[in-house]
Amino acid sequence: MLSENFSKLCRVEDLTEGIGKRFLVNEIDIALFKIKGEVFALSNVCPHQHSALIYEGFIEDNCVVCPAHGWKFKLKDGKMENGGNGLNSYPVKVIDDIIYIKAEDKSNNW
Ligand code: FES
Repeated sequence: MLSENFSKLCRVEDLTEGIGKRFLVNEIDIALFKIKGEVFALSNVCPHQHSALIYEGFIEDNCVVCPAHGWKFKLKDGKMENGGNGLNSYPVKVIDDIIYIKAEDKSNNW
């Protein structure tokens, strides 16, 4: 059962393994990734120079690497490798192969 405030994004098969896809949900810029079948939703805006490029990042060691200058964020919670705040991370649900995420808070975690 889907609780309230989850937004429908796309089908799991619409994502390519390891390649990000960008969505706007409640005016929040989101980067969505599918890694080994698991789906992760992070803020698309890098805290470094506020580039909206995370969806173009590459995946390394269960992290996404910003393509601009290489800052690295954990897929599971968006934090930096040293534990520092990084990208916001949003709850994901997959029901019948449809991806839903809950993204309401526009404030950044910088
Ligand atoms: S803007 Fe992301 S690392 Fe510089």
